[in-house]
Amino acid sequence: MPIIGKEWFTDVAKQQPMVLYEDISQGCERFVVPVYSNPRFFMDSSLFENFKYTSRIIDVAGQLACRSASPTFMCQCAGQCSTNCECSSGVFGEGGTVENMELLMWDTVRECNEYCNCALWCGNRVAQKGAMYPVEIFARDPWCGWGVRASVDIAFGTFIGEYAGELIDDEEAMDRHDSTFLFETKVGSETLTIDAKYSGNYTRFINHSCAPNVKVANISWDYDKIQLIHMCFFTDKAIRKGEELTIDYGEAWWANKKFPCLCKSSECRYQFGNDQRT
Ligand SMILES: C[S@@+](CC[C@H](N)C(=O)[O-])C[C@H]1O[C@@H](n2cnc3c(N)ncnc32)[C@H](O)[C@@H]1O
Ligand SMILES: [Zn+2]
Ligand SMILES: [Zn+2]
Ligand SMILES: [Zn+2]
Repeated sequence: MPIIGKEWFTDVAKQQPMVLYEDISQGCERFVVPVYSNPRFFMDSSLFENFKYTSRIIDVAGQLACRSASPTFMCQCAGQCSTNCECSSGVFGEGGTVENMELLMWDTVRECNEYCNCALWCGNRVAQKGAMYPVEIFARDPWCGWGVRASVDIAFGTFIGEYAGELIDDEEAMDRHDSTFLFETKVGSETLTIDAKYSGNYTRFINHSCAPNVKVANISWDYDKIQLIHMCFFTDKAIRKGEELTIDYGEAWWANKKFPCLCKSSECRYQFGNDQRT
């Protein structure tokens, strides 16, 4: 699947970003997800060779996680959901962008599900429809590694993707040697983890910034009463084509890190790490 071989690496004469993969998603997204290397510095691209792209949450056997045969939750609205529906309508406006960012971040947002009576065009079905806006993976710098940037302008409040990967329990998470791609989630009241090291989508390449332009919301849309919480990424600003997409990893993530934050924002809070690279 690489369209160029290892020789790209030595081809520094052009000093231009080069396409390492034309579509790392291999057709899993509506759009292609290219990977751009940068001949000006070394980037470890070996991870792409064993990486299985998925835009869904799967179990360790690679099957869709948390499927249930007995639906227990559904709304009875006709057409568009009303604001007093049991689902979380009111968060999204027409066209599917976020109307109320505070409501989105408040708690778990419940989108309508396949058993809800409302129409498929109901405005409360947003993240479940999957990512719509093209992005690309690029070589950000030798320390941060790869990053994600927008391939088109994206409006404020737009859903851009969910954190996909393997859903594992605490015990399994402790056994995983690399915690870099672990993201906590819930199924009902149980805390579980999504590991995107081996399987995942482009959101696993999103870096941290102390002035992020993307927020992560908890959303459910499965019909089971025991809801799988999807970690969904929404733009928190209008994004320009070519701009890097970033989230705030949070204080707990930075607490035990020995390297400084390289977000370069004037609001950077974790600049003074103990890392030797500074
Ligand atoms: C979830 S991964 C993000 C993708 C990663 N850049 C890659 O190449 O796979 C998180 C890792 O990226 C790097 N990283 C992300 N944001 C960073 C930041 N603001 N400053 C320094 N390193 C960062 C750290 O090595 C961190 O452990
Ligand atoms: Zn609805
Ligand atoms: Zn409804
Ligand atoms: Zn920072």
